[in-house]
Amino acid sequence: MDKIVIQGGIPLKGQVDISGAKNSALPAISACLLSKGWNRLQGIPELKDVHTIKKIMEEMGVVFKEQGETLLVNTENLTSCHAPYELVKTMRASILLLGPLIARMGRAKISMPGGCAIGARPINLHLKALSSMGMDMYLEHGYINASAKRLKGARIFFDIPTVTGTENILMAAATAKGVTVIENAAKEPEVQDLACMLRSMGARIEGEGTDTILIEGVDELRPADHRIIPDRIETGTFMIGATITKGDIWINNCIPEHLTAVIEKLTAVGADIHIEDKRIHVIGPDIIRSVDIKTMPYPGFPTDLQAQFMALMCISDGSSIIHETIFENRFIHVSELRRMGADISIDGSQALVRGKDRLLAAPVMATDLRASACLVLAGLIAEGERTEIRRIYHLDRGYERLEEKFQKLGARIWREKDLSAP
Ligand code: EPU
Repeated sequence: MDKIVIQGGIPLKGQVDISGAKNSALPAISACLLSKGWNRLQGIPELKDVHTIKKIMEEMGVVFKEQGETLLVNTENLTSCHAPYELVKTMRASILLLGPLIARMGRAKISMPGGCAIGARPINLHLKALSSMGMDMYLEHGYINASAKRLKGARIFFDIPTVTGTENILMAAATAKGVTVIENAAKEPEVQDLACMLRSMGARIEGEGTDTILIEGVDELRPADHRIIPDRIETGTFMIGATITKGDIWINNCIPEHLTAVIEKLTAVGADIHIEDKRIHVIGPDIIRSVDIKTMPYPGFPTDLQAQFMALMCISDGSSIIHETIFENRFIHVSELRRMGADISIDGSQALVRGKDRLLAAPVMATDLRASACLVLAGLIAEGERTEIRRIYHLDRGYERLEEKFQKLGARIWREKDLSAP
């Protein structure tokens, strides 16, 4: 196992290119199951989670080929509809295979995802919606055993706007008989990207990006040829990186409109932010002002940037309230930040961060993907010899070559073998 080592204190300078979005890549690869033939996907990042979904699909008979920047996905012959526990337990997003499998094959056996470090994360809304479209299912030995003849369109109201739930229904409804209406749909750019890909495959979808999505089922879909969107969470992580280190960076190949809430908050913090087409220029302020945030579904402030923003508030000039409304346990980074000298108290879903002059380098443990990114950012400004971050396999799930990208911006960050790991 590796660990990341950082010697903090260097303001980031230079340019960084953003990779394709993890949370677009996973539904895009899953959606290829809806067609028969060679699909072409561009911009797919090299990540552990992408590797996991490919591995599950390979066991189903899907063939993957890499051709330069393009991922070719052949879904002609499916031999199994089984997503096993050993793989699903490492990535909850495997549930994205349920919608397309049931639509294409009329059956699926998928390990029920368990909870994860950030919360219980149930999938009841996915199952209820698919059941209302005619899916039969029973749970046995930890597996969802699902079957259906052709799914039929339905009116679906999500109690909570679920991102992967909306994506599962978009895929299932694309070839269902009749019209499906999703109300209180998730509006995230990744949902919009999937709708765009499905439309290019012949699906009839309207309203993505709003609360109500309408899908008119078609008999079949053709293979996809799609480039996924850049990762807005990676973009936001670098924006916070420039701000926290008081640096000056250009972030290339991003979609600034996907980060409106983040740009607004970082501007309030004092960062100087300029947008130029698909690039964002961020200059960090001399004094980091304290600002409150509340995580919300898109277009609100993303929960996937809450931990990174908290690292920034640890060295702000005052007190900041960070309110997490999406996941019930997404403050696991707090105890690690405290080890670096942060002053944070938690009351239920709110954290009060009292800004200090500095953070101090320390050995810390990554506990989930975004918590890992938060610790990297904290390490970039920590005073002292070195910050060591262990269990960085979490980071490799969702950030492509993160330490290389930070190195290119001048940071002293590298990987070492973690000899203390079992
Ligand atoms: N929820 C339910 N029942 C359901 C589904 C969701 O109660 O059936 C609840 C969840 O427990 C949560 C809320 O609804 O409280 C929203 O969860 P959502 O379903 O939208 O989350 P998700 O689809 O499981 C995706 C991203 C997450 C991101 C969230 C919120 C993917 C693969 N994952 O998860 O990404 O945090 O949306 O934006 O798209 C990450 O990348 O680090 C990550 C965790």
